[in-house]
Formats: sequence, C-alpha cells, structure tokens
Amino acid sequence: MGAASELAVVVLTGAGVSADSGVATFRGAGGLWEGQRIEDVATPEAWRRAPERVWRFYQLRRASLATVVPNAAHRALAELERRLVAAGARFTLVTQNVDDLHERAGSRALVHMHGELALLRCERCDTRVRDLARVDPAEFVPCAGCGHARLRPDVVWFGEMPYHMDAIETELARCTHFLAIGTSGVVYPAAGLLALAREQGARTWVQALERPENVHPADAFVPGRAAEVLPELVASLACEWGLGG
Ligand code: OAD
Repeated sequence: MGAASELAVVVLTGAGVSADSGVATFRGAGGLWEGQRIEDVATPEAWRRAPERVWRFYQLRRASLATVVPNAAHRALAELERRLVAAGARFTLVTQNVDDLHERAGSRALVHMHGELALLRCERCDTRVRDLARVDPAEFVPCAGCGHARLRPDVVWFGEMPYHMDAIETELARCTHFLAIGTSGVVYPAAGLLALAREQGARTWVQALERPENVHPADAFVPGRAAEVLPELVASLACEWGLGG
C-alpha cells in the first residue's frame, strides 16, 4: 500500500460495539432475543398483528438511549475516521446498530443499514420524523403529515430490505481494508459484507467477544471487548498506515 490517500476503509459494526455502553446485544445470555420471539416484535407481520407489543418493545429501547453514552470503541472509530479523512483517504462506517452512539461519538460518514431508533416513519405517506421525546410505551405517535394514527419505528425488520445497500456495495467494491466489529455474523446481508470485501482483495479484521460464524482463516480475528481492544487496534493501524495525529 502506498500513500494513505489510497486507503479506502470500511467498518461494519454490530451490537457488540455498544455492549460496553450498556446497550443489550441480541444473541446470547441476557440478549434482546432471549425469551422473545423475533417474529413477535421485529417483523412487519407483528406490527400489523400486535402493534401495541411491537411499539412497547421499541419505545423502551428508544427511551433507553437517553441513559447511555458512547464508549471508547465508538470514540476510537470516530478518531480513525478523522485521521483517515485528514490524510485524504476514504472511510465509511456501516452500522447495524439502531442506537445513535456512533454519531454522538463524532462519526460522520455513517450508514445505518438497519435504520435508527431516533426516527419514526409513516407507512402511509412515508414522512419521517426525528423524535426521541415521545417515548411513552402506551401511546402511539400520529403522523403530522397525513394524520395516520401511528408512526412505526424506522428500523429494518426481518423480511425487509436493509437501507443503503447500493451505497454500501459501492464502497465495498473499492475498499482496501475492512473491519467487522462486534457482530455475530449470522444476519444477512450484513454478514456477507466481510466475504465480499475479502473476495475483492481487502485486508480484513474481525473483532468480537466470541469468534463469529463467518470468520475465515484469511481474516485477522481480534478477541476481546471492543471498548478495551479498539483504541489499541486503531492506534496500531494508524501507525501502520502512516496517519498523522
Ligand atoms: P448479536 O447480538 O447477534 O452479536 C453480538 C456480537 O457482539 C457477538 O459476536 C458477540 O461476541 C459480540 N460482543 C458482545 N459483547 C461485546 C463487546 N463488549 N465487545 C466486542 N464484541 C462483543 O448482534 P449483531 O451481530 O449486531 O437486526 O446482530 C445483527 C442483527 O441481528 C441486528 O442488527 C438485529 C439482530 O437481529 C435486526 O433487528 C434486523
């Protein structure tokens, strides 16, 4: 690799990056899906069949955003972006997380492929509103655009197409370095991005507490807690890539 300006870095994050901020992951003990059927809270059918239950699940998660703050992993990724951009390199952060901790840590080139808890969307007129004030689990929020009785969380449910796939694939096609952080590698299409990056010649890193399902021998696996491991990993990559401070 020559000049830093030739670098094109794509980072994919999952729930593990927010775990050290106290946001529950999905899988495993204490995860959001434990004791909860995905079909009951995270599908368009569930929203049609039992909107009160789905709304309550997401309102509790929306309300909890006010109680959490970014951790050292979010900050390290924001810092990596700042240094890469200053060096004239490309950087994209693709997150499956619906929390807002990356943006609060200072990340800019951020793609929320599974949507955002902070956004509500009208299924009738497609109006979107950024709202973290109305978080009562017992009260729907009506659409100010068309009067529809209940906005839905603007998150991607199972059976729905993730957002921004074209932009993500464009960045992947040119990426030289790819990092997957805190994601179990079981939910597609996100889980397939690692292989796509690898197959087109990018160097790949995987960071998670336990070895994710989609890790390949060619990937560098870095075990540990993201908030502990990422500051060091980012510092060593910045050094290797000759990035300024
Ligand atoms: P998961 O809950 O499936 O996986 C969390 C990953 O983070 C696992 O690989 C853990 O080993 C790792 N992990 C846990 N704590 C960590 C820590 N402190 N530091 C580093 N890694 C840690 O979460 P996701 O992979 O993000 O989709 O889940 C993917 C998608 O499945 C989510 O976006 C959501 C879910 O169902 C939808 O809701 C559509």
